Amino acid sequence: MFTAGVLTVSDKGSRGERIDESGKVIKEALVSLGAAEIKYGIVPDERQAISAKLREWSDAGLDLVLTTGGTGLTPRDVTPEATLDVLDRIAPGFAEAMRAHGMKQTPTAMLSRAVSGVRKKTLIINMPGSPKAVKECLEAISPALPHAIETVRGQASECARR
Ligand code: MTE
Repeated sequence: MFTAGVLTVSDKGSRGERIDESGKVIKEALVSLGAAEIKYGIVPDERQAISAKLREWSDAGLDLVLTTGGTGLTPRDVTPEATLDVLDRIAPGFAEAMRAHGMKQTPTAMLSRAVSGVRKKTLIINMPGSPKAVKECLEAISPALPHAIETVRGQASECARR
């Protein structure tokens, strides 16, 4: 069992002008993975607003935070910068795995600048904004998430046996 947060980063979504399909997809996946508690937030593509929410949730001790949106190349896309503002350590493998898996579906997967890492005891992973991309990214990282959460907590000591 673990605790999680889903942070949707979207100007339109935060104004109520777009239904947040991607956040819903992530929440459902987290329930399947065994999340005991899932916090949800939606913020505009503003670096300070994103980093403030990430700080709040990692200070509160959530095990995992998944963001969706704002990872691309438009001038408003600042989710990776906001995430790097708060990370203590980067853990690039998650973002690398998502891009590698995504590239098998579409070459535009390389446009995502998603980053991943750890703040305090919270694993934070950026995902792109579209529901399709989120599904593909979840396929890539879900198999490793339970063990990743254990290691961030400091509970896993037998990695070699896996
Ligand atoms: N990754 C996967 N797996 N599948 C996708 O369809 N779309 C890409 C990319 N990553 C995509 C993907 C596209 S088109 C963009 S622009 C970038 O994610 C950034 O998306 P974002 O700005 O919504 O975060």
